[in-house]
Amino acid sequence: MSETIYQGLAGVNVDTTQISHIDGLKGELIYRGYDIRELANKASFEEVTYLLWNDDLPTQDQLAEFKNGLKPHYILPQEVIEVLKLMPKDTHPMHAVRTAVSMLGATDSAAEGVDLDNVHRIGLSLTAKFPSIVATFERLRNGQEAISPDPDLSIAGNFLYMLTGEKPTEAATNVMDVALVLHAEHGSNASTFVARAVASTLTDVYSSITAACGSLKGPLHGGANAAVMQALEKIGSVSKVEDYVMNILGTPGGRVMGFGHRVYRVLDPRAIILKEVSHHLAEESGDSKWFEMSLEMERVMDREMTKKGKEIKPNVDFFSASVYRMLGFPTDMYTPIFAVARISGWMAHLYEQYADNKLMRPRMVYEGPLGKSFKAINNR
Ligand code: SDX
Repeated sequence: MSETIYQGLAGVNVDTTQISHIDGLKGELIYRGYDIRELANKASFEEVTYLLWNDDLPTQDQLAEFKNGLKPHYILPQEVIEVLKLMPKDTHPMHAVRTAVSMLGATDSAAEGVDLDNVHRIGLSLTAKFPSIVATFERLRNGQEAISPDPDLSIAGNFLYMLTGEKPTEAATNVMDVALVLHAEHGSNASTFVARAVASTLTDVYSSITAACGSLKGPLHGGANAAVMQALEKIGSVSKVEDYVMNILGTPGGRVMGFGHRVYRVLDPRAIILKEVSHHLAEESGDSKWFEMSLEMERVMDREMTKKGKEIKPNVDFFSASVYRMLGFPTDMYTPIFAVARISGWMAHLYEQYADNKLMRPRMVYEGPLGKSFKAINNR
């Protein structure tokens, strides 16, 4: 009997979850019952993280208590700062993030516990520290002193502050907050699946999150936002976008970064919101080049995919590239910023996994030879 193979686990349900729901046909993303389109415009990243980790949005008091639980953890231990100082300045920032997570685990005397209280303690610490890790590495690799966090600021605001030493404007903080909310959670995407698969052996949280960082870095996943901007920079102008796209589509296996999705068959709802943000930033800054080039790429891809009868649309990484560019972030920081948001979704899934665990161990169908007899090496 021939076995069914689900390469890439496409279409396979590995578990149930209460955290988020994606309707790929309608283009809907729901975090614990709330539509992302409402959350993105009305809830802060801290409110959404509380929602993802609990059953509902927090009350005023619950949110205040949650924020007070996060703020003391903004500070990085000195040994983590020292490790970030040792990182080669030209290394990919996701190597720095992944290494800092490992160092946090190495220096946490209670790292091993997977009881939910300990997992929650580590989750608070990592969610509060990811912005500090990314901002500190950015400062250090540019030969600048690390900036101590400001506990009076939100996660989004403190991240921007630790990059420059200047209190961010309310507008910049709001844009950052929207981007973090949109990138926080997305079901069993590759990095979240990896986090849960690693946690399913009952290893520690830091090992699971380190693995998730490695997965997110890939250009088919969280690395796509940087790949989009690298493509736009390589193309250089609106008039050259069409040739670039046609050249990729004419290459067997060619992929235009920022387009397509394993689940969405229509436009990613996050891309719709980020397109509006990019348009607003382009108008506000007067620098519409990257937004205009993105619109042209979307136009050409829509025309070509319609011709092919394929539903390949912009995903969350496509317009986030121009948003992050106009916010002034270096291109290789885009994926670490994705991680600053996704740590909240990863932790929500680790709470679920550790609370009702089953070791993840799929099978593979062997298609190799059988019945070979061993020959001594001088007879081979
Ligand atoms: C994220 O899973 C998540 O939820 C992830 C994410 C999250 O929030 O965690 O949403 C974030 O990772 C978004 C995706 C970012 N990645 C990219 O933008 C990289 C470019 N996209 C593709 O590599 C691709 O679309 C994937 C990886 C996203 C999805 O790939 P699938 O589901 O494995 O589909 P596939 O590669 O097998 O393609 C199916 C068909 C192919 O046609 P055929 O070869 O079968 O004729 O669609 C075509 C592909 O040619 N296609 C594309 C395309 N994506 C799919 N053609 C051109 N350009 C593309 N980008």
